[in-house]
Amino acid sequence: MDVYPFARLAEAKRQVAATGVQLIDFGLGEPREQTPGFIRAALADAIEPMSRYPSSDGLPELRAAIARWCARRFGAELDPDRELIPTLGSKEGIFHLAEVVADPQVGRDLVAVPSPGYPVPARGAVFAGLRVLELPLSEESGWLPALEAVPDDAWDRLAVFWVNYPNNPTGATAPLAFYDVLAARARRHDFVLASDEAYSELFFGPEPPASALQLPTLENVVVFNTLSKRSSMPGYRSGFVAGDPRLVAALKRYRPNVGVAPLEMVQRASVAAWDDEHHVEAVRARYAAKRELMLPALARAGLRVAGGDASFFLWCAVPGGDDEAWAARALKQGIVVAPGSFFGRHGAGFVRVALVPTPQECERAARIVARL
Ligand SMILES: Cc1ncc(COP(=O)(O)O)c(C=O)c1O
Repeated sequence: MDVYPFARLAEAKRQVAATGVQLIDFGLGEPREQTPGFIRAALADAIEPMSRYPSSDGLPELRAAIARWCARRFGAELDPDRELIPTLGSKEGIFHLAEVVADPQVGRDLVAVPSPGYPVPARGAVFAGLRVLELPLSEESGWLPALEAVPDDAWDRLAVFWVNYPNNPTGATAPLAFYDVLAARARRHDFVLASDEAYSELFFGPEPPASALQLPTLENVVVFNTLSKRSSMPGYRSGFVAGDPRLVAALKRYRPNVGVAPLEMVQRASVAAWDDEHHVEAVRARYAAKRELMLPALARAGLRVAGGDASFFLWCAVPGGDDEAWAARALKQGIVVAPGSFFGRHGAGFVRVALVPTPQECERAARIVARL
Protein backbone atom coordinates (compact mmCIF):
# COMPACT_ATOMS: atom_id res chain seq x y z
CA MET A 1 0.00 0.00 0.00
CA ASP A 2 1.33 3.46 -0.90
CA VAL A 3 2.55 6.06 1.66
CA TYR A 4 -0.29 8.04 3.22
CA PRO A 5 0.02 11.30 1.24
CA PHE A 6 -0.03 13.41 4.39
CA ALA A 7 3.22 11.73 5.45
CA ARG A 8 4.80 13.26 2.33
CA LEU A 9 3.33 16.64 3.22
CA ALA A 10 4.74 16.35 6.77
CA GLU A 11 8.22 15.85 5.32
CA ALA A 12 7.88 18.89 3.01
CA LYS A 13 6.65 20.97 5.98
CA ARG A 14 9.61 19.88 8.07
CA GLN A 15 12.01 20.96 5.34
CA VAL A 16 10.42 24.42 4.93
CA ALA A 17 10.19 24.96 8.70
CA ALA A 18 13.90 24.12 8.98
CA THR A 19 14.64 27.18 6.81
CA GLY A 20 13.01 29.41 9.46
CA VAL A 21 9.62 29.95 7.75
CA GLN A 22 6.71 30.03 10.26
CA LEU A 23 4.00 27.69 9.04
CA ILE A 24 0.24 28.23 9.21
CA ASP A 25 -1.29 24.80 8.72
CA PHE A 26 -4.52 24.49 6.71
CA GLY A 27 -3.42 21.01 5.57
CA LEU A 28 -4.67 18.39 8.03
CA GLY A 29 -8.39 18.38 8.84
CA GLU A 30 -7.90 18.12 12.59
CA PRO A 31 -9.98 20.53 14.72
CA ARG A 32 -7.84 22.72 16.99
CA GLU A 33 -10.67 24.37 18.92
CA GLN A 34 -10.76 23.95 22.70
CA THR A 35 -13.09 21.23 23.94
CA PRO A 36 -15.86 23.05 25.90
CA GLY A 37 -15.23 23.21 29.67
CA PHE A 38 -18.42 21.39 30.67
CA ILE A 39 -17.38 18.38 28.56
CA ARG A 40 -13.91 18.30 30.11
CA ALA A 41 -15.51 18.55 33.57
CA ALA A 42 -17.87 15.65 32.76
CA LEU A 43 -14.82 13.58 31.78
CA ALA A 44 -12.96 14.43 34.99
CA ASP A 45 -16.05 13.69 37.13
CA ALA A 46 -16.35 10.27 35.54
CA ILE A 47 -12.91 9.02 36.56
CA GLU A 48 -13.57 6.02 38.82
CA PRO A 49 -11.21 4.62 41.48
CA MET A 50 -11.46 1.22 39.81
CA SER A 51 -10.77 0.93 36.10
CA ARG A 52 -12.90 -1.69 34.38
CA TYR A 53 -13.10 -2.83 30.78
CA PRO A 54 -15.69 -0.72 28.94
CA SER A 55 -18.66 -2.64 27.54
CA SER A 56 -18.43 -2.88 23.75
CA ASP A 57 -22.14 -2.10 23.34
CA GLY A 58 -21.60 1.24 25.10
CA LEU A 59 -23.28 2.59 28.23
CA PRO A 60 -27.09 2.62 28.05
CA GLU A 61 -26.93 6.33 29.07
CA LEU A 62 -24.77 7.12 26.04
CA ARG A 63 -26.95 5.14 23.64
CA ALA A 64 -29.98 6.99 25.00
CA ALA A 65 -28.24 10.38 24.56
CA ILE A 66 -27.30 9.54 20.95
CA ALA A 67 -30.88 8.44 20.23
CA ARG A 68 -32.19 11.72 21.73
CA TRP A 69 -29.81 13.70 19.51
CA CYS A 70 -30.82 11.80 16.36
CA ALA A 71 -34.47 12.47 17.20
CA ARG A 72 -33.87 16.19 17.85
CA ARG A 73 -31.63 16.82 14.89
CA PHE A 74 -33.04 14.49 12.21
CA GLY A 75 -36.47 13.45 13.52
CA ALA A 76 -35.17 9.85 13.53
CA GLU A 77 -36.73 7.57 16.15
CA LEU A 78 -33.99 5.03 16.87
CA ASP A 79 -34.16 2.12 19.29
CA PRO A 80 -31.00 2.68 21.39
CA ASP A 81 -30.69 -1.07 22.08
CA ARG A 82 -31.01 -2.31 18.50
CA GLU A 83 -30.26 0.50 16.10
CA LEU A 84 -27.08 2.20 17.29
CA ILE A 85 -23.74 1.51 18.91
CA PRO A 86 -21.00 3.90 20.12
CA THR A 87 -17.66 3.75 18.32
CA LEU A 88 -14.11 4.83 19.15
CA GLY A 89 -14.35 7.97 17.03
CA SER A 90 -15.85 7.17 13.64
CA LYS A 91 -12.63 6.25 11.82
CA GLU A 92 -12.28 2.74 13.24
CA GLY A 93 -15.96 2.00 12.59
CA ILE A 94 -15.61 3.19 9.00
CA PHE A 95 -12.45 1.10 8.54
CA HIS A 96 -14.00 -2.06 10.00
CA LEU A 97 -17.33 -2.03 8.17
CA ALA A 98 -16.06 -3.84 5.04
CA GLU A 99 -14.63 -6.63 7.19
CA VAL A 100 -17.97 -7.03 8.97
CA VAL A 101 -20.22 -7.18 5.92
CA ALA A 102 -17.85 -8.69 3.32
CA ASP A 103 -18.88 -12.00 1.83
CA PRO A 104 -16.50 -12.65 -1.09
CA GLN A 105 -17.64 -16.31 -1.26
CA VAL A 106 -21.01 -15.20 -2.59
CA GLY A 107 -19.42 -12.73 -4.97
CA ARG A 108 -19.75 -9.60 -2.79
CA ASP A 109 -16.22 -8.42 -3.49
CA LEU A 110 -16.59 -4.69 -4.28
CA VAL A 111 -16.66 -1.50 -2.21
CA ALA A 112 -17.62 1.75 -3.94
CA VAL A 113 -15.94 4.90 -2.65
CA PRO A 114 -15.99 8.49 -3.84
CA SER A 115 -12.94 10.09 -5.46
CA PRO A 116 -11.74 12.55 -4.30
CA GLY A 117 -12.50 11.25 -0.83
CA TYR A 118 -11.51 10.46 2.74
CA PRO A 119 -9.12 7.50 2.30
CA VAL A 120 -10.30 5.28 5.17
CA PRO A 121 -13.26 3.46 3.50
CA ALA A 122 -11.02 2.32 0.63
CA ARG A 123 -8.27 1.22 3.00
CA GLY A 124 -10.77 -0.75 5.08
CA ALA A 125 -11.95 -2.48 1.91
CA VAL A 126 -8.41 -3.42 0.87
CA PHE A 127 -7.56 -4.77 4.34
CA ALA A 128 -10.76 -6.86 4.18
CA GLY A 129 -9.54 -8.37 0.89
CA LEU A 130 -12.14 -6.57 -1.25
CA ARG A 131 -11.76 -4.54 -4.42
CA VAL A 132 -12.30 -0.80 -4.55
CA LEU A 133 -14.51 0.83 -7.15
CA GLU A 134 -13.67 4.55 -7.28
CA LEU A 135 -16.58 6.73 -8.32
CA PRO A 136 -15.62 10.17 -9.58
CA LEU A 137 -17.14 13.28 -8.01
CA SER A 138 -17.21 16.32 -10.24
CA GLU A 139 -18.17 19.93 -9.98
CA GLU A 140 -20.76 19.47 -12.77
CA SER A 141 -22.59 16.80 -10.75
CA GLY A 142 -22.53 18.91 -7.57
CA TRP A 143 -19.87 16.53 -6.17
CA LEU A 144 -22.35 13.64 -6.08
CA PRO A 145 -21.00 10.28 -7.35
CA ALA A 146 -21.73 9.39 -10.94
CA LEU A 147 -23.98 6.33 -10.56
CA GLU A 148 -23.68 5.66 -14.29
CA ALA A 149 -19.96 4.99 -13.63
CA VAL A 150 -21.00 1.78 -11.84
CA PRO A 151 -20.95 -1.02 -14.45
CA ASP A 152 -24.33 -2.86 -14.65
CA ASP A 153 -22.86 -6.13 -13.42
CA ALA A 154 -21.16 -4.41 -10.45
CA TRP A 155 -24.35 -3.56 -8.51
CA ASP A 156 -24.84 -7.17 -7.37
CA ARG A 157 -21.17 -7.49 -6.43
CA LEU A 158 -21.20 -4.48 -4.11
CA ALA A 159 -20.71 -5.13 -0.40
CA VAL A 160 -20.71 -1.43 0.58
CA PHE A 161 -21.42 1.84 -1.18
CA TRP A 162 -19.80 4.72 0.73
CA VAL A 163 -21.04 8.29 0.64
CA ASN A 164 -19.80 11.24 2.69
CA TYR A 165 -21.79 14.46 3.04
CA PRO A 166 -21.01 17.13 4.03
CA ASN A 167 -18.12 16.00 1.92
CA ASN A 168 -14.45 15.85 2.72
CA PRO A 169 -12.72 17.36 0.77
CA THR A 170 -15.27 19.37 -1.26
CA GLY A 171 -17.63 20.72 1.42
CA ALA A 172 -20.61 19.67 -0.74
CA THR A 173 -23.90 18.46 0.73
CA ALA A 174 -26.39 15.92 -0.65
CA PRO A 175 -30.18 16.27 -0.82
CA LEU A 176 -32.37 13.67 0.90
CA ALA A 177 -33.60 12.55 -2.55
CA PHE A 178 -30.06 11.37 -3.32
CA TYR A 179 -30.00 9.13 -0.21
CA ASP A 180 -33.46 7.89 -1.17
CA VAL A 181 -32.34 6.76 -4.63
CA LEU A 182 -29.22 5.04 -3.31
CA ALA A 183 -31.01 3.36 -0.40
CA ALA A 184 -33.58 1.92 -2.83
CA ARG A 185 -30.71 0.51 -4.91
CA ALA A 186 -29.07 -0.87 -1.75
CA ARG A 187 -32.24 -2.82 -0.97
CA ARG A 188 -32.72 -3.97 -4.57
CA HIS A 189 -29.14 -5.27 -4.89
CA ASP A 190 -28.66 -6.08 -1.18
CA PHE A 191 -25.56 -4.01 -0.50
CA VAL A 192 -24.97 -1.65 2.43
CA LEU A 193 -25.35 2.08 1.92
CA ALA A 194 -22.84 3.55 4.39
CA SER A 195 -23.15 7.28 5.02
CA ASP A 196 -20.26 9.05 6.73
CA GLU A 197 -21.71 12.23 8.22
CA ALA A 198 -18.74 13.40 10.32
CA TYR A 199 -19.28 17.04 9.27
CA SER A 200 -23.08 17.17 9.53
CA GLU A 201 -23.03 19.95 12.14
CA LEU A 202 -20.60 22.28 10.35
CA PHE A 203 -22.83 24.09 7.89
CA PHE A 204 -22.95 27.71 6.77
CA GLY A 205 -25.92 27.77 4.40
CA PRO A 206 -29.50 28.47 5.43
CA GLU A 207 -30.48 24.79 5.99
CA PRO A 208 -28.77 22.07 8.03
CA PRO A 209 -27.53 19.26 5.74
CA ALA A 210 -29.76 16.22 5.20
CA SER A 211 -28.89 12.86 6.72
CA ALA A 212 -29.56 9.29 5.66
CA LEU A 213 -31.13 8.98 9.13
CA GLN A 214 -34.08 10.96 7.71
CA LEU A 215 -34.98 8.15 5.30
CA PRO A 216 -38.36 6.52 5.93
CA THR A 217 -36.64 3.13 6.40
CA LEU A 218 -33.06 2.34 7.40
CA GLU A 219 -33.07 -1.15 5.87
CA ASN A 220 -29.57 -1.74 4.34
CA VAL A 221 -28.43 1.69 5.60
CA VAL A 222 -25.86 2.64 8.26
CA VAL A 223 -24.81 6.15 9.27
CA PHE A 224 -21.59 7.16 11.02
CA ASN A 225 -21.24 10.33 13.06
CA THR A 226 -18.78 11.67 15.60
CA LEU A 227 -18.13 14.27 18.28
CA SER A 228 -14.70 15.06 16.81
CA LYS A 229 -15.82 18.01 14.67
CA ARG A 230 -19.22 18.89 16.20
CA SER A 231 -17.88 19.20 19.73
CA SER A 232 -14.14 19.74 19.06
CA MET A 233 -13.30 16.39 20.67
CA PRO A 234 -10.99 14.60 18.17
CA GLY A 235 -8.74 13.28 20.94
CA TYR A 236 -11.62 11.79 22.95
CA ARG A 237 -12.42 9.27 20.17
CA SER A 238 -16.19 9.19 20.40
CA GLY A 239 -18.69 8.53 17.63
CA PHE A 240 -21.50 6.16 16.74
CA VAL A 241 -22.94 4.03 14.01
CA ALA A 242 -26.72 3.84 13.59
CA GLY A 243 -29.10 2.19 11.20
CA ASP A 244 -30.40 -1.21 10.10
CA PRO A 245 -30.71 -3.40 13.25
CA ARG A 246 -29.32 -6.42 11.35
CA LEU A 247 -26.12 -4.48 10.61
CA VAL A 248 -25.91 -3.11 14.14
CA ALA A 249 -26.28 -6.69 15.44
CA ALA A 250 -23.43 -7.83 13.14
CA LEU A 251 -21.26 -4.99 14.47
CA LYS A 252 -22.11 -5.97 18.06
CA ARG A 253 -20.93 -9.53 17.35
CA TYR A 254 -17.71 -8.33 15.69
CA ARG A 255 -16.60 -5.45 17.90
CA PRO A 256 -15.81 -7.28 21.18
CA ASN A 257 -13.07 -9.12 19.23
CA VAL A 258 -11.30 -5.89 18.31
CA GLY A 259 -11.35 -3.99 21.62
CA VAL A 260 -12.69 -0.71 20.26
CA ALA A 261 -15.13 0.36 23.01
CA PRO A 262 -14.60 4.01 24.05
CA LEU A 263 -13.33 4.54 27.63
CA GLU A 264 -16.20 4.76 30.09
CA MET A 265 -15.23 8.29 31.21
CA VAL A 266 -15.23 9.37 27.56
CA GLN A 267 -18.68 7.84 27.13
CA ARG A 268 -19.94 9.86 30.12
CA ALA A 269 -18.42 13.08 28.71
CA SER A 270 -20.05 12.21 25.39
CA VAL A 271 -23.50 12.13 27.03
CA ALA A 272 -22.94 15.77 28.06
CA ALA A 273 -21.76 16.68 24.55
CA TRP A 274 -24.65 15.09 22.60
CA ASP A 275 -27.18 16.66 25.00
CA ASP A 276 -26.01 20.24 24.35
CA GLU A 277 -26.41 22.35 21.20
CA HIS A 278 -25.20 25.76 22.48
CA HIS A 279 -21.54 24.85 22.13
CA VAL A 280 -22.19 23.56 18.60
CA GLU A 281 -23.66 26.93 17.61
CA ALA A 282 -20.54 28.60 19.03
CA VAL A 283 -18.26 26.24 17.05
CA ARG A 284 -20.16 27.02 13.84
CA ALA A 285 -19.84 30.76 14.51
CA ARG A 286 -16.07 30.44 14.95
CA TYR A 287 -15.63 28.54 11.68
CA ALA A 288 -17.97 30.98 9.93
CA ALA A 289 -15.74 33.90 11.03
CA LYS A 290 -12.67 32.11 9.65
CA ARG A 291 -14.45 31.52 6.34
CA GLU A 292 -15.18 35.24 6.12
CA LEU A 293 -11.48 36.00 6.66
CA MET A 294 -10.14 33.51 4.15
CA LEU A 295 -12.68 33.66 1.30
CA PRO A 296 -11.74 37.15 0.00
CA ALA A 297 -8.00 36.41 0.36
CA LEU A 298 -8.29 33.19 -1.65
CA ALA A 299 -10.29 35.02 -4.32
CA ARG A 300 -7.58 37.67 -4.53
CA ALA A 301 -4.98 34.92 -5.04
CA GLY A 302 -7.01 33.73 -8.05
CA LEU A 303 -8.50 30.67 -6.37
CA ARG A 304 -12.14 29.90 -7.04
CA VAL A 305 -14.21 28.15 -4.39
CA ALA A 306 -15.61 25.22 -6.35
CA GLY A 307 -17.08 23.13 -3.54
CA GLY A 308 -20.07 23.48 -1.21
CA ASP A 309 -20.69 25.56 1.90
CA ALA A 310 -20.51 22.92 4.64
CA SER A 311 -17.68 21.25 6.64
CA PHE A 312 -14.64 23.27 7.65
CA PHE A 313 -13.04 22.82 4.23
CA LEU A 314 -12.76 25.25 1.35
CA TRP A 315 -12.27 23.36 -1.92
CA CYS A 316 -10.66 25.70 -4.40
CA ALA A 317 -9.80 25.41 -8.09
CA VAL A 318 -6.22 26.64 -8.59
CA PRO A 319 -5.28 28.92 -11.47
CA GLY A 320 -3.45 26.86 -14.10
CA GLY A 321 -4.78 23.61 -12.62
CA ASP A 322 -1.53 22.30 -11.06
CA ASP A 323 -2.55 21.73 -7.44
CA GLU A 324 0.76 20.26 -6.29
CA ALA A 325 2.73 23.18 -7.74
CA TRP A 326 0.36 25.75 -6.20
CA ALA A 327 0.56 24.03 -2.79
CA ALA A 328 4.36 23.90 -3.02
CA ARG A 329 4.50 27.64 -3.81
CA ALA A 330 2.18 28.45 -0.90
CA LEU A 331 4.25 26.25 1.42
CA LYS A 332 7.37 28.27 0.65
CA GLN A 333 5.46 31.31 2.03
CA GLY A 334 4.42 29.35 5.12
CA ILE A 335 0.87 28.48 4.03
CA VAL A 336 0.14 24.76 4.22
CA VAL A 337 -2.78 23.44 2.14
CA ALA A 338 -3.55 19.92 0.91
CA PRO A 339 -3.26 19.37 -2.86
CA GLY A 340 -6.50 17.86 -4.19
CA SER A 341 -4.66 14.95 -5.77
CA PHE A 342 -3.99 13.67 -2.21
CA PHE A 343 -7.66 12.64 -2.18
CA GLY A 344 -7.58 10.66 -5.44
CA ARG A 345 -6.83 11.51 -9.04
CA HIS A 346 -10.21 13.21 -9.46
CA GLY A 347 -9.09 15.82 -6.93
CA ALA A 348 -6.34 17.13 -9.21
CA GLY A 349 -6.62 20.82 -10.03
CA PHE A 350 -7.96 21.76 -6.58
CA VAL A 351 -6.54 22.47 -3.14
CA ARG A 352 -8.27 21.82 0.17
CA VAL A 353 -8.03 24.54 2.81
CA ALA A 354 -8.99 23.24 6.28
CA LEU A 355 -10.09 26.20 8.41
CA VAL A 356 -8.48 24.84 11.57
CA PRO A 357 -5.82 27.45 12.45
CA THR A 358 -6.74 30.12 15.05
CA PRO A 359 -8.55 33.32 13.93
CA GLN A 360 -5.28 35.23 14.49
CA GLU A 361 -3.40 32.79 12.25
CA CYS A 362 -6.18 33.07 9.66
CA GLU A 363 -5.81 36.88 9.68
CA ARG A 364 -2.07 36.58 9.11
CA ALA A 365 -2.56 33.88 6.48
CA ALA A 366 -5.17 35.99 4.65
CA ARG A 367 -2.57 38.74 4.14
CA ILE A 368 0.02 36.25 2.83
CA VAL A 369 -2.45 34.35 0.60
CA ALA A 370 -3.79 37.52 -0.98
CA ARG A 371 -0.25 38.21 -2.26
CA LEU A 372 0.33 34.72 -3.66
C1 LIG B 1 -14.89 12.39 6.14
C2 LIG B 1 -14.41 11.95 7.47
N1 LIG B 1 -15.01 10.93 8.07
C3 LIG B 1 -14.62 10.48 9.26
C4 LIG B 1 -13.55 11.05 9.92
C5 LIG B 1 -13.12 10.43 11.21
O1 LIG B 1 -13.21 11.23 12.31
P1 LIG B 1 -13.18 10.65 13.77
O2 LIG B 1 -12.54 9.31 13.74
O3 LIG B 1 -12.40 11.63 14.55
O4 LIG B 1 -14.61 10.54 14.19
C6 LIG B 1 -12.88 12.12 9.35
C7 LIG B 1 -11.73 12.72 10.04
O5 LIG B 1 -10.99 13.50 9.55
C8 LIG B 1 -13.32 12.58 8.09
O6 LIG B 1 -12.73 13.60 7.47
